[in-house]
Order: sequence, then structure tokens, then C-alpha cells
Amino acid sequence: MSCFEAINGRYACKLFDPKWRLSKEQVENILEYGRLSPSSFGMEPWRFVVVEDQKHKEALRQLCWNQPQITTCSHLVILLADKAAVQDPEYIEAMFGRRGLNQEATAAYIERYKEFLAKQDISCWVQKQCYIAAANMMTGASEDGIDSCPIEGFEKEKLERYLGLDTSKQEVALLIAFGKCAKKAPKKRRLPLQKLVVRWF
Ligand SMILES: Cc1cc2nc3c(=O)[nH]c(=O)nc-3n(C[C@H](O)[C@H](O)[C@H](O)COP(=O)(O)O)c2cc1C
Repeated sequence: MSCFEAINGRYACKLFDPKWRLSKEQVENILEYGRLSPSSFGMEPWRFVVVEDQKHKEALRQLCWNQPQITTCSHLVILLADKAAVQDPEYIEAMFGRRGLNQEATAAYIERYKEFLAKQDISCWVQKQCYIAAANMMTGASEDGIDSCPIEGFEKEKLERYLGLDTSKQEVALLIAFGKCAKKAPKKRRLPLQKLVVRWF
């Protein structure tokens, strides 16, 4: 399958076949697609919670607008935005330190990062990175013949409480349900490129 086919073939599945299960390898691959994603300054501020247990899915569905994708999917991945990590001096040092730069260059890089970070809405910035990982997970899954649905329709505070998160440190960015869709792909509706692209040359 070409990358174009994987992207074009993905759609937001509204109902999964409840009997169909991803293999362990398929789950690992999806997590790898997220892990290998690019992030600003290479900070990888995403954390992935994998939910397979039906009882937890039933409870989560109540916190996600009662959406049937939650209970019919095979696996649910909750993408957490790690605000604490990106501000933690030890984590920052480790992430920049692995680049193999000399001490002076590493210190200068960290200084630039800190200046950048000081101007960010950290919650928003960290969540943006999670969406990149999410997109790669869904495209990769599509290439592997797995359907998905990104889910932003949830009650954030209640969900974070259910997960026992310390929201000063981590918050929920979005969820993705993975499985085999029980419905046919709907017609693709997208704006034409002419409406989206400006070519400055
Ligand atoms: C960040 C994000 C959150 C979304 N949240 C939901 C959701 O909670 N429930 C749902 O059914 N679809 C959700 N969608 C799916 C969109 O409605 C869908 O991607 C869009 O209508 C385009 O359709 P397609 O993905 O099938 O091509 C979400 C999509 C994105 C990117």
C-alpha cells in the first residue's frame, strides 16, 4: 500500500466489529508509529495509555459522550500530554544530552529551548505534539489494514480524574480507538487543493 492509499483509505470509524482483536504485534507497531514521530525540540512529550479491558472501556465510554467506538474497538490509546517532563531539568538535560553535542553547544541549545518554552502556552504546545503522534499512529494503522477513530469528544476533567492524573503534570490530549470497522468507509469529503493552497512564486 502506498502512503497515499493509507492516508486516503483512513476514515473515522464510528462502529467497530466488537469481536475483532488486534494482535500484540499490531498494537506494538501502532505504538512505534507514535514513538517514532517528530516533536518540537525532540522532546517527545507524549505518553500512551493502552486500554484493552472491556470494563474500563465501558466506564470510559460514559466519559466520552457515550460514543460506541469506545466499547466496540479492540484497543483504545489515550494520548497524554506530559507538561511536567518538558519542564523538568533532568529530563531536558537527558533529551538534549543524547544529541552528541559538546557541553557548550548543549548548554546553548537548552538556553534557546528555555527561552522558547517561556513564550509557550505549555499545555497547548505539548498537546500539539501529541496530535502529530496521533496522526502517524492512524496512518500507520491504515497501512496495516487497521481502522481507527480519533476522539476529542470527552469530558476532560472527569476523564482525567478517572485516569488518576495529576493534571498539573499530565493531561489528556485525545484518544484513538483502533479495530476493524463494522461499517463501510463513507464518501471522503475534503476541500479541493485550490481552496487550501497559495503558491508564492
Ligand atoms: C482531533 C480529532 C478529534 C475527533 N473527535 C471525534 C470524536 O470524538 N468522535 C467522532 O466520531 N469523530 C471524531 N473525529 C473524526 C472527525 O469527525 C473526522 O475525522 C472528520 O469528520 C473527517 O472524516 P474522516 O476522518 O472520516 O475522513 C475527530 C477527528 C479529529 C482529527
